[in-house]
Amino acid sequence: MRMHLYRWFALLVMAVGMPSIALSESLNCQAVTAETCDIAGKLGRGINLGNMLDPPREGDWGYWLLPEYLDKVAPLFQTVRIPVRWSNHAAATEDATLDERFAGRVDKVIDSYLAKGMYVILDLHHYNQLFGDALMPNEYPVAPEVLETRLVNMWQQLAERYKDRSDKLIFELLNEPHGKLNGEPWNALLARLIKTVRSSNPTRTILLGPTEWNAAKDLEKLRLPEDRYLLIAIHNYEPFNFTHQGIKYLPKPFPTGTTCCNKQQQLMITDALDLAQAWSKKHGYPLHVGEFGAYKAADMDSRASYIRFIRDEMEQRGMGWTYWDFASSFGIYDPKARVWIEPLRRALLD
Ligand code: BGC
Repeated sequence: MRMHLYRWFALLVMAVGMPSIALSESLNCQAVTAETCDIAGKLGRGINLGNMLDPPREGDWGYWLLPEYLDKVAPLFQTVRIPVRWSNHAAATEDATLDERFAGRVDKVIDSYLAKGMYVILDLHHYNQLFGDALMPNEYPVAPEVLETRLVNMWQQLAERYKDRSDKLIFELLNEPHGKLNGEPWNALLARLIKTVRSSNPTRTILLGPTEWNAAKDLEKLRLPEDRYLLIAIHNYEPFNFTHQGIKYLPKPFPTGTTCCNKQQQLMITDALDLAQAWSKKHGYPLHVGEFGAYKAADMDSRASYIRFIRDEMEQRGMGWTYWDFASSFGIYDPKARVWIEPLRRALLD
């Protein structure tokens, strides 16, 4: 009997200590294959390698994706999301021929994380002109009539390029569609993109999210083509005036000094997760929270409380996640001192 109990205890410890946070049975997967469902459950805990390959040019924002990060990140996370501004590393013409030198650089990054056994989300990030947003310094404009076809052609090349990589490589079609893509334009474009990817990658997991910057409230507007290898991403930066306080590049910056998280703030976070969860249940697609995080201007205790709270809430709902981000101004790692910001790392992982 004692032996029996011990075995159960050991099994329990194994289950609790398992890196994958969600058992597939707790996910909503009626619309996808068993393999896709399995991947959704195994994405677990992840981190965005943000502000490195997604500025207009690598290094423009003061962060570089260094090889030494691999051994920091790989033991702690199951997944990395790699935002890449392909639009600024491709011909300005309709064909959007990829800059081979830059693509070769991205190949190495992807392969190094795959070699560690991690899931890698390749995220096409910041195609600003497509949304009608202003261009950033060092970003080149393209003719409006080639904007969408360029995106299709970028994916045609990326899909061909990575078609033989392991199924742990996931394609994320477009970060945070918004502005001009809100509503039907995104539905029409995502169908074109999926069709393009499928000609060379019939079963690869594709991640995509709703409009209005991947807001849960826009999930109901998504119209998805018949495809059983899709995962759906939402982003959650609620309460926005807390997570984005003190950021100067916002059109109307929020004052600093907002703490987190009282009951009302907690509800803002969980309402969005519940809305997404209800959609997932109704439509049968599993969810991934691709971005959440708090900017460095908030006080450290509040950032840690926020991170722990939202992490627990996502995990209770069986949602895998990737924190925004590793080492930038939202980060949990200090790239200058080359150490984790311990209170944040603990809140996220312990
Ligand atoms: C953007 C970052 C931004 C973050 C939080 C990301 O999608 O690429 O530039 O800091 O969201 O707003």
